[in-house]
Order: sequence, then C-alpha cells, then structure tokens
Amino acid sequence: MTDKFARLTIDGSDNTIDLPILSGNLGPDVIDVRSLGSSGCFTYDPGFLSTASCESKITFIDGGKGILLHRGYPIEQLADQSDYLETCYLLLNGELPNEQEKAEFENTITQHTMVNEAMARLFRGFHHDAHPMSMMCGAVGALSAFYHDSLDISNPEHRKTSAHRLIAKIPTLAAMCYKHHIGQPFMYPRNELSYSENFLHMMFGTPCDEPNVNPIIARAMDKIFLLHADHEQNASTSTVRLAGSSGANPFACIASGITALWGPAHGGANEAVLKMLDEIGSVDNIDEYVLKAKDKNDPFRLMGFGHRVYKNFDPRAKVMKETCAEVLNELGINDPQLAIAQRLEQIALEDEYFIERKLYPNVDFYSGIIMKAIGIPTDMFTVIFATGRTVGWIAHWNEMVSESYKIGRPRQLYTGYEARDYQTMDKR
Ligand code: ACO
Repeated sequence: MTDKFARLTIDGSDNTIDLPILSGNLGPDVIDVRSLGSSGCFTYDPGFLSTASCESKITFIDGGKGILLHRGYPIEQLADQSDYLETCYLLLNGELPNEQEKAEFENTITQHTMVNEAMARLFRGFHHDAHPMSMMCGAVGALSAFYHDSLDISNPEHRKTSAHRLIAKIPTLAAMCYKHHIGQPFMYPRNELSYSENFLHMMFGTPCDEPNVNPIIARAMDKIFLLHADHEQNASTSTVRLAGSSGANPFACIASGITALWGPAHGGANEAVLKMLDEIGSVDNIDEYVLKAKDKNDPFRLMGFGHRVYKNFDPRAKVMKETCAEVLNELGINDPQLAIAQRLEQIALEDEYFIERKLYPNVDFYSGIIMKAIGIPTDMFTVIFATGRTVGWIAHWNEMVSESYKIGRPRQLYTGYEARDYQTMDKR
C-alpha cells in the first residue's frame, strides 16, 4: 500500500479522485489509474509515452543516464564477464547460476536444439526468396503444432520446458531460414559446440565439412545475442505480453513478438542501417543525407540513431562499438561502408540537431556492421535480433503468467461517426 496520492479534479464536476502513487525500487514513481475507468474517464497515451504497462523485476533502464541492468547486473559487466546462455539463465531465473546450475542449463539447451524433421517440409513450402523474417514468423508459430506436451501455461514445468525449447530451437530455425534462402542443405546442430558456435556452424557450415568456427567471431556472435537479450517493455516485448494475456501458448506469443520486431523503427533498424549506408554510397554524399535527416518535410531518418528510452549513449552501443573494432581487425576488413558509418557517427555526435534531440548511435548501428563483416546477409539481421531477444520475451511472458494478470484491453478516444442509419445502395 502507499500513502502517496495524486489528486485529479475533473473540470466542470465536483468529482475529485485520489490516485495512489506507487514506487518501484528504481525509476520514476507511477500513478495508479486503474480506478479511473469506473468514474467514466480513461487516460489517453498513444505510443505509451507516459505509461507503465506492468510491474516487472527483470530489466531496468535509465535512459537519461545510459544505464541498463538485467536482474540488477549492469549490461557492461555481463558483456565483459558473462556469456549469452548464462545471461539467459539470469533473465529466466532471477539469479546467476552456480557452476552446476550453469552446466545443467547449457546441457538442457544443447539437448533441445534439434527441431522436428517435419519443420524442414514446412520450410520447403516457402518460396526461395521469402524474407527470412516472414519464414521466422511462420516457423516459430508452427512450433506450437509440435510440442503439445508443454502448452499448459498454468503449469510451471510446462512453461520452463517451453522456454528451454524456444531458446534452443530459435537459432536452428534462424539458420534454416538462411539455408532455405540460398538453397543449401539444412545443417543439424552439433552438441560439442557452444550456443554461438553452433549457430555459426548451422549458418555457414555444409554437410561436406567438419565444423570450423573462428573463436573471435563466435565470441562476437555471443555478444550480439547477449546485448539483445532483453530490453524491458519495448514494442515486441509488450506485444508478447499482450498476446500472452489472452492465454495464448508461448510459441504463438513469441511469434507475435517476432512480427512486432520486424519493423524498421524497432528490430528492422539494423537492416535499415545497411540499406541506408548503401544508399548514401560514398563519404562525399553524407552531408546531403544529414540535411535530409534534419528536414522536417523529408521522411528520411538516420537509421541506427535515436531511441525512445535512451537520451544518452546506449550502453549496449558502447560494447558493440568495441566488438565491431575487434571483428573488423580480426577479419582484416576495410569496408567502404564502414568509413561512411564512422563519418556519419562523428557528424551526428557533433551536429546541433542531433545533440539537442539527444540522438546517439544505437545498438543497431554497430551490430549491422559486425554482422555484415561476419558474412551474415542484411535480410538476416532482424532474425539474429529475434534469436537473441527470445529469452527476454519468454522471461517477460513467464513473469506475467506466473502471477495474477488480466487480459490486456486498451480503450480509445473515439473520433468516428455517431450512430447513423444504414444507407441502401441507391442512396450512396
Ligand atoms: N534521424 C533524424 N531525426 C530523428 C531521428 C533520426 N534517426 N530519430 C528521431 N529524430 C528526431 C525526430 O524527427 C524528432 O524531431 P522533432 O522534435 O524536431 O520533431 C525528435 O528527433 C524526436 O523523435 P521521435 O520520433 O519523437 O522519437 P521517438 O522516441 O518516438 O522515436 C525512434 C524513437 C523510433 C527509435 C527514432 O529515433 C527513429 O526512428 N530512429 C531510427 C530508427 C532506429 O534506429 N530504430 C532502432 C531503435 S533501437 C531498437 O529498436 C533496438
């Protein structure tokens, strides 16, 4: 309970409502407006600019200070000292695993990486040039057709099994999207490889060769997954929660998260960054594109810049920038697109327009460059993001379903017609 209230007086009436103010452990207080509906009013907040949609213990972001904590641990420390699967365990269970728990978790995930062989036939139904995200949406939703034994969402063991299956199988499906696209045989997972090595093997290996994964590239891949693992109530996570609030099964909920991630304002941004660098074409054209980005009459935006929550350097972008340098150095890449990216970054950090609006390069700006260097095609970028983010989605879904929850049902400010009579065809 709280002893703090915000008093709301509705204009033109004597109606005064005391709304409880709730405090979390970190971050701004929230005004609890749940009782407002019964007094005939709704709050109005399209785009959720000022709305906390749920209570959560998983991830905390202070966008002003550039802080991101998973279960209290700073992302920089996790990126430096942990690895993706350990971070998955942390997000799912709330604590870092001890040695035995870590080994058991890794073993469980490894044992779940294969998908039902019928999934290969599902993929063959897609046209070869289908966008990998379109295949991913379909394939992940289709998983619910195979794993009926873990779909009772009120059973914690079922939820755990589904979470493990999703984390384990998503990289296999992601690699299948790519292999289908380029017409190579699907690669089965290899149990002796780490999570990221296995993914790279399924992407780039062929049945003719033994696995051969560069450890520096595998570490960079692991970091990309880790840095994308969770980001509190973003568009895709909120979509997963909303879908889950209807009681939908976890595979269907994660498929809905994938669809929300696809857009260029969210997970599609890393693909959009590379397309933009391509369009800019040369360092000589940068000034023209910066002017376009600043022109209110031009829809062009600098992709990979700005963030709804971070009004400071995204802490993930800092780590990604370092990883980017390591990968390019290891591969000896001298990419002209990189020169454009570096110049763009410099201009944006010095330009009054970007400074005033606190538009910093975001995580997608650098992840796109790394993935291109590794040889991952641009249209697979968002699939990689979805692979890393699956754990965040499932952790949030599990958190919601483990406690009492209501179906998400927003209301609206209706501005359409009042009731009117149906017009017969001769009167239209
Ligand atoms: N290039 C140029 N101007 C921009 C950009 C940009 N990338 N981003 C924001 N602005 C400007 C807007 O025009 C607006 O200017 P104004 O105040 O003069 O009207 C101001 O900055 C605020 O922008 P909003 O769109 O109101 O900010 P919002 O928080 O709604 O949007 C978003 C955030 C969607 C990320 C936006 O910055 C954007 O479109 N960026 C490019 C796409 C991108 O990189 N998305 C990835 C996000 S990170 C992620 O999903 C992991």
